[in-house]
Amino acid sequence: MANTTRATPLPNEHVLVAGGAGYVGSHVAWLLCRLGFKVTVLDDLSTGHRHAVPHSATFVHCDARDTALVSRVFAESRPTAVMNFAALSLVGDSYRNPIGYIAHNLTITLNLAKAAAETGVSSFLLSSTASIFGNEASQPIAEEAPVRPGNPYGESKAMCEQVLRWLEATTGIRTAALRYFNASGALLSSNLGEAHDPETHLIPIVIQAALGLRDGVDIFGDDYPTADGTCIRDYVHVLDLADAHVKTLLALRTAGGLRYNIGSGRGYSVRQIVHAVERETGHRIPVRRRPRREGDPTTLIACNDRIRNELGWRPVNSGLATIIGSAWKWHVNHPSGFDTLR
Ligand SMILES: NC(=O)c1ccc[n+]([C@@H]2O[C@H](COP(=O)([O-])OP(=O)(O)OC[C@H]3O[C@@H](n4cnc5c(N)ncnc54)[C@H](O)[C@@H]3O)[C@@H](O)[C@H]2O)c1
Repeated sequence: MANTTRATPLPNEHVLVAGGAGYVGSHVAWLLCRLGFKVTVLDDLSTGHRHAVPHSATFVHCDARDTALVSRVFAESRPTAVMNFAALSLVGDSYRNPIGYIAHNLTITLNLAKAAAETGVSSFLLSSTASIFGNEASQPIAEEAPVRPGNPYGESKAMCEQVLRWLEATTGIRTAALRYFNASGALLSSNLGEAHDPETHLIPIVIQAALGLRDGVDIFGDDYPTADGTCIRDYVHVLDLADAHVKTLLALRTAGGLRYNIGSGRGYSVRQIVHAVERETGHRIPVRRRPRREGDPTTLIACNDRIRNELGWRPVNSGLATIIGSAWKWHVNHPSGFDTLR
């Protein structure tokens, strides 16, 4: 597995990674530490794992909704850049508790933005999502596509992007939002991988079924207008995502207002993923047909031209075999996720 960024931190460059104990954030924190950046991880461990935080990062156990506490952490640690991964991100839950979801995600971003402005932070990078584009976007989705979130979770992220716009306009802090498609895969060399509870992402669910850790895979809708009737998604390896964050962080030294879609540019249907896992692992996976879920777009595929052209990013690890192979090995070696490492 390769990352393409060769970055040297500036003197005193210090990145505060909110949500850095989670799946994507821990991989980014790992890459930043490996490149020599000073890193502080701020996380309440609500869905993250202490074992996922790199040894060389400072860890602060903190609920980022606590305005005063966040300001104090910034005043004491004096970061120069912020990356915000901390959020609730289950689409189904966001329908059941839309206001709570929006309040949670927006409050975190507002608190981090406020503390960043108070302490002279120079750049702010947000984890955003393809969900801001909604169900009608034409494929592949470019950054210019209208922002029309199809669910409350996507709406919360669209609102966070608006916060960034005004943060930049009024303070000069340079901002970026990376709209991820489906993060996937694992970084075996560093004992990092995906461990959500409950798990809602397709690839780990299919792998857990292959391992006999669940009794099959639910397919939510097989009457979509696609070749096999199931939804199509774009899977991007988490190390490629990490690489995109570092490239964007470097770009933020001189440029602002950056908005990038981060996906491989290729789409696979649910059934194609099930068959690919069967092929890679040699296990047969039982599937059950279920009704469609609210808010599931038929297809989400990224147009990644902008970040390719502007930052030279490439999804070098995002072939399906690499994604599934690394995720498979992670789950085989960590059947209880990070608890396996205790
Ligand atoms: N995983 C994906 O495929 C994907 C796709 C699109 C966007 N995203 C976005 O990327 C980000 C990271 O996703 P992930 O899959 O790594 O999720 P995750 O749940 O693994 O990580 C989120 C982290 O934030 C922390 N957190 C949550 N609320 C917090 C709070 N109030 N205070 C402090 N820490 C808090 C959690 O403990 C966790 O460590 C999220 O913002 C998500 O919306 C993820």
